Amino acid sequence: MTTPSAQQRHAELCREIARHNRLYHLLDQPEISDAEYDALFRELLDLEERHPELATDESPSRKVGAPAADKFAPVEHAVPMLSLKNAKNAEDFGEFDKSLRGTFLSRTEALEYACEMKLDGVAVELIYEHGQLVRASTRGDGFVGEDITENVRTISTVPKQLTPPCPAQLDVRGEIYIDLADFQQLNRAQEDAGEKSFANPRNAAAGSLRQLDARVTAGRPLKMFCYGVGRLQGSMPATQLGILQQLQNWGLRVNLGETTLANGVDEVVACYRALQQRRDGLPFEIDGMVVKVNDVALQHELGMVSRSPRWAIALKFPPRQEETVIESVGLQVGRTGAITPVAHLRPVAVSGVTVSRASLHNWDEIQRLDIRVGDYVVVERAGDVIPDVVRVVFAKRTGKEQPVPIPENCPGCSAPVSKRPGEVVPRCSNAHCPAQAIESIKHFVSRDAMDIDGLGEKQLGQLIAAGKVRDVADLYTLSKQDLFAMARMGDTLADKLLRSIDGSRRRPLSRLLFALGIRHVGRNTAKILAKRFASLDQLAECNREQLTAIHEVGDKVADSLIDYLSNPDKILLLAKLRAAGVMPEAEVMIQQDGPLSGKTFVITGTLTRWSRQEAEALVEKFGGRAAGSVSKKTDYVLAGESAGSKLDKARTLGVEILDEEAFSRMIREHS
Ligand code: IVH
Repeated sequence: MTTPSAQQRHAELCREIARHNRLYHLLDQPEISDAEYDALFRELLDLEERHPELATDESPSRKVGAPAADKFAPVEHAVPMLSLKNAKNAEDFGEFDKSLRGTFLSRTEALEYACEMKLDGVAVELIYEHGQLVRASTRGDGFVGEDITENVRTISTVPKQLTPPCPAQLDVRGEIYIDLADFQQLNRAQEDAGEKSFANPRNAAAGSLRQLDARVTAGRPLKMFCYGVGRLQGSMPATQLGILQQLQNWGLRVNLGETTLANGVDEVVACYRALQQRRDGLPFEIDGMVVKVNDVALQHELGMVSRSPRWAIALKFPPRQEETVIESVGLQVGRTGAITPVAHLRPVAVSGVTVSRASLHNWDEIQRLDIRVGDYVVVERAGDVIPDVVRVVFAKRTGKEQPVPIPENCPGCSAPVSKRPGEVVPRCSNAHCPAQAIESIKHFVSRDAMDIDGLGEKQLGQLIAAGKVRDVADLYTLSKQDLFAMARMGDTLADKLLRSIDGSRRRPLSRLLFALGIRHVGRNTAKILAKRFASLDQLAECNREQLTAIHEVGDKVADSLIDYLSNPDKILLLAKLRAAGVMPEAEVMIQQDGPLSGKTFVITGTLTRWSRQEAEALVEKFGGRAAGSVSKKTDYVLAGESAGSKLDKARTLGVEILDEEAFSRMIREHS
């Protein structure tokens, strides 16, 4: 029976996921991270598993989810690339095994499982035709991935040609990953080159595969293990283990030595425990064990449910925890002056990565956990290099531990610190604080902002120390000579950096708006603003009412924009940027030859697929104009439910009326 609350949550999730799909697919304005999207999706799948009657064809679980990015050509997977259901512990696995035997196979004897390592990398499909590698793609949404053939060709463990005799057609699946030691070396090299370091080996592998220049990928230490097969024209062994052996015979790299056959739950659990013991000693990161029914005929009998096979499950490991000591607490000044406490830890290896720092977030958190300097603490690394402090080991307190006081002065400039009412973080009150300057310049040059390559923390520190740069505008007046203030800066590198700085002068307005680091103006808000205003000057002319009239702009954002744009220091900075030739490109959305160009739309009534603002943004995106009232000049009225007088007027004037489906067709046909 579906409870009303399950039904309600299901409807909410469908709406939310559909909205995020739209934001991502159509509007190119994602509001949440992939991980947050995945969490929503997982909740939906869980709910539908408990209440299968909710999984109608309308559910996003039956439709395409996260799309392939458009900078790589799309590749459709001939057999969808499914994902795995998760089991958190031995008990969950017991349930899984019971349901397979009881519900689906009606058998009492133990099932034979193949237990494989669950590599924490990027899922990839390789297509071989008559033994030749012809295509490689990412998983994407499971149905359509991105074409990364040229990049994958640079990986030495991926054979370009299989060892004969080869099948006519073979689609192989596997994981591309980076060894932990290589990852740490890569991050050091990134930092030395002024590039951002990667949070974990998986991100590093994903970033390396999605390079537009395959030469960059070639320099990255990527490896691949194959674990399965999609489309196949030819014969294959009848077991998972046999398939792995066959893949190896063709010259593909397979983690065969680490694949174990296990009979029934007890053997699988023993295998899981043994693997967990060995986890820290492995050269790469794994996040669990994949357990697959070994017999392929049984796999077929079991089939799949929503996006996962019934015959396999990921038996995950809990995040790794280690005990260490807080040796001291440092203070970090952010670009908005926020001061964050950072624990300096006695270095400890947490699942293969040495960690020596952990963010303590703020003093409320310090108080909540009762953290003191000298404490033994348990740290947890959930994948990323920077771990969290989970708890204090109170049993090891000696009484000598020291509390972490809220600072009264900024560690960067000694200016007094203030705390705004309602905020948990203390802030430096000095607008010219050098510690803030370095952070705001770091943000300004970052990839999602002005995207200036070659200026990392080290390099900026040297430029600031040499007095060459005080604010972001100074970057644009740097001479080659100035750049030599940085260590290891040769002629070629300096030229490259100058070109990179110069190239950023005409970035889109949304990037500059984000790069300025205005409080509460994140990437999405910056994009929304850049679609409404052609320039910073135009934005600066707006008053609070005009700003809050924009659907996505609330009081906080409006106040912060007004604060920033009326602050004499900032006015000076913007003038300095302008004088240095920073002229962002306007992004006000007019597609000159869009499918709706020259057409005026009025939107009325309640729409189910979009909010009115989203529909207006779509009209503008495709070249049309969205007007508020119906007149003879109106070309179309897009009418939702309970449309009133505007619809009547449209009928009187003979204006064409569209429902959502017709409007959707109109933009789909042309996009
Ligand atoms: S089998 C239909 N085997 O885990 C099952 N997956 O959602 C397809 N993974 O994205 C996956 N190691 O990239 C399989 N030995 C392994 C794996 C593995 C890692 C990844 C895979 C997939 C995710 C599970």
